[in-house]
Amino acid sequence: MEIDWKALQVKATEAMKKSYSPYSKFPVGVAALVSDGRVISGCNVENASYGLTLCAECSLVSELIMSGGGRLIAVVCVDKDGNLLSPCGRCRQLLYEHGGDSLELLTPEGPKNMTVILPWGFGPKDLN
Ligand code: THU
Repeated sequence: MEIDWKALQVKATEAMKKSYSPYSKFPVGVAALVSDGRVISGCNVENASYGLTLCAECSLVSELIMSGGGRLIAVVCVDKDGNLLSPCGRCRQLLYEHGGDSLELLTPEGPKNMTVILPWGFGPKDLN
């Protein structure tokens, strides 16, 4: 499937602008191409009880399921300037669940798949 990385970064930047991050003042946006061709996005949503913060990737995964499911093919995560951001460890796990080894993440060195982003990741296969 053709991946328009620039369009994904634009979409992630649009999502970042919806971020609710009054505590950290660190807005994050993420966008993904799904296996059926649709593009989804998410932003971080913070809470006065700081530890309850939902990362942008969490919002993305909720959107994935609510909009019909499917597999994540390609993901771009951005900061407040629209520059590429490295997803936190927990979010790598969230992404891995719905994209597996072949999911590609845009990094400053170009797209990298999840075998690089989350080496020897724990996933659904390990529950068998
Ligand atoms: N954040 C994300 O949304 N995703 C990440 O992968 C890294 C961190 C958010 C959480 C919090 O709202 C802010 O960035 C600062 O940590």
